[in-house]
Amino acid sequence: MHFSDNLISWYKQNKRDLPWRNTTNPYKIWLSEIILQQTRVNQGLSYYYKFIEHYPTVNDLATASEQDVLKLWQGLGYYSRARNLHATAKVITKEYKGIFPNDYNSILSLKGIGEYTAAAIASFAYQLPYPVVDGNVFRVLARIYGIDTPIDTLVGKKTFYTLANQLINKKQAALHNQAIMEFGALVCTPKNPDCENCVFNNSCAALANKQVDLLPVKSKKIKQTNRYFNYLIIENNHSETFIAERKNSDIWKGLYDFPLIETLEKISSFTELSKQTTFQQLLPNSTTLILNKVSSETKHILSHQKIYATFWHITTNKTNHLETDFTKINSSSINNYPLPKLIENYVKSF
Ligand code: ADE
Repeated sequence: MHFSDNLISWYKQNKRDLPWRNTTNPYKIWLSEIILQQTRVNQGLSYYYKFIEHYPTVNDLATASEQDVLKLWQGLGYYSRARNLHATAKVITKEYKGIFPNDYNSILSLKGIGEYTAAAIASFAYQLPYPVVDGNVFRVLARIYGIDTPIDTLVGKKTFYTLANQLINKKQAALHNQAIMEFGALVCTPKNPDCENCVFNNSCAALANKQVDLLPVKSKKIKQTNRYFNYLIIENNHSETFIAERKNSDIWKGLYDFPLIETLEKISSFTELSKQTTFQQLLPNSTTLILNKVSSETKHILSHQKIYATFWHITTNKTNHLETDFTKINSSSINNYPLPKLIENYVKSF
């Protein structure tokens, strides 16, 4: 049986019933794909429903405030995806009169939409025959066809895109694309794939050559950096504290956090912390300070970095000078702001 027929027949019998599969609305498809780049289906579902409820159409999303969009995205991470989503909704509303473009190149030209997402929207919404190529597809094709060219090289990308283009069923582009991703998510998984029950187990090159665990190949290992974050939760006598929006191009742009002292090594005492230049700028020597509590260190893992965070609770009566760079809020209203997951988790605990 042809690859696509085999795949589609497997899909029809095994697919999960997911809301974005019962629609050809390009806005809903786009939204679901952007969410699913960030998380697995189970967690993605609740975000998808929340977004559709708050912003039923692309125009509703376009008129929302960025802060509200980030707040709804809170917990998914990689917040530039949410900012791009919002920016593109505005472009569609203004430049495309609220109507999602229906050709591949216009879709691809939108901010935050790369080849994968453009192919997903073009095929799911408009039945255009563009193959989706994401991590699932690299894995499925590398294994079934026994391709060991690294997927993160130009030659590798070209090889996989060419093959994906040959394999797609042009008359059933949407089904084919949904099927190959579902197959990668349910059967041909990164770890412990279900080769025993796989509909390709007679023809899979990797299975025949005992290479299932070795494919696909990546050439580079992602370099991880360690960062040490010391957050100051500075409270005055009125239970007010200070937060600021992160503005620079580092992680979490647009989200709010506490005054931060980042160090190259772990800080293990308050004396050591108070010697840091940033600390002295934030809380000059003259200020009376009481250290109330120190959290234990929490580890937060991002794709390229590990963050080791400690929260230092400090009371002081001199906080006027902080009000230029920080927003003074009532401590209990912190959850009204979009927060990084690390902060969200911590504030839940106090
Ligand atoms: N992952 C990415 N896109 C998906 C989709 N449309 N359905 C299920 N999982 C996905």
